[in-house]
Amino acid sequence: MQAQDFIPQSKLGTIDTGKVAWQSPSNIALVKYWGKKENQIPANPSISFTLNNCKTTTSLECTRKKDSENKGDFFDFEFYFEGKKKEDFKPKIYTFFERIEKYCPYLKEYKFTIHSKNSFPHSSGIASSASGMSALALSIVSIEKELNPTMSDAHFYRKASFLARLGSGSACRSIQGKLVVWGEHAEIEGSSNLYGVEYPNEVHQVFENYQDTILLVDKGEKKVSSSVGHDLMHNHPFAEERFKQAHRNLTALRAIFSSGNLNEFIEIVENEALTLHAMMMSSNPYFILMKPNTLEIINKIWAFREATGLPICFTLDAGANVHVLYPEKNKIEIFQFIENELLTYCDKNQFISDSVGFGSIRL
Ligand code: PMV
Repeated sequence: MQAQDFIPQSKLGTIDTGKVAWQSPSNIALVKYWGKKENQIPANPSISFTLNNCKTTTSLECTRKKDSENKGDFFDFEFYFEGKKKEDFKPKIYTFFERIEKYCPYLKEYKFTIHSKNSFPHSSGIASSASGMSALALSIVSIEKELNPTMSDAHFYRKASFLARLGSGSACRSIQGKLVVWGEHAEIEGSSNLYGVEYPNEVHQVFENYQDTILLVDKGEKKVSSSVGHDLMHNHPFAEERFKQAHRNLTALRAIFSSGNLNEFIEIVENEALTLHAMMMSSNPYFILMKPNTLEIINKIWAFREATGLPICFTLDAGANVHVLYPEKNKIEIFQFIENELLTYCDKNQFISDSVGFGSIRL
């Protein structure tokens, strides 16, 4: 498929009013997306576990503008976050509407009211852009489906992922499926740079309900945003090798997902997390998002793994928080270790218990 396939082909109907609501999860990448080309095309393929508990719920109400109202000029919407009107969130949504207008030509014909809330604390350092942008994209495509009831389910979900990508790259991996691939990879059939697809191959049952305990090391605003970080991959001295490595790591994961070899899984996942941060530390300008406690936790995890042989590992996103990953069958002993030895490194001992989920749901 190509981007223009997401421009509505048939004449769309109209509705006077509409209301839809979606709940959409966050995701945690195993092979990381870091670096992009124009129009939010990823520089390398990535794959993520969809989460189950970190979610955004978004409702979208629309009213058709009257003929006397100026339809063509601007996007007309109000945005409420956790019940409160949020003017400061509007520019981001306005930019999103501008990016998707070509694919959603009906946007300026309606007035929208958007209500959004997260299942996790806003100031937890957990990025809400994946869950937030995917929930909004799904809501917009739901309105489009009312204008074009013949839209197939396959096109619906693909378009939601395509639009979510234009809001925040990794958001395209939050639509459908437990393991989602985004970005073309030679050995993953159907993979695309334009949208996320559910990982199509065999997955060993050890990955079923895989656990992710998110340790909230630092709840402050990130010093460097993801978009600045992605940009710094242009002219990065190690970029080309990094992009090749992501392809190789995804090839390796393909075999690991089928065999269930957790030692190999751990090696790839930790290598990806540390490479992501190594890219930040070696860009120009360089920066560090890990905190001393991030490293304390990593060292404790390594020592515990060495001592017990249990398949615990970590990954990181673009921040200081640590995602601790482990199979469900080892939950009791690993969680006890987390409680006894790791929570002390978290801001006010805070953490989020999560596990692999299946994607968004319409409410
Ligand atoms: O979706 P963005 O632009 O916020 O980038 C997210 C990048 C990482 O979370 C660091 C990696 C990933 O693949 O999710």
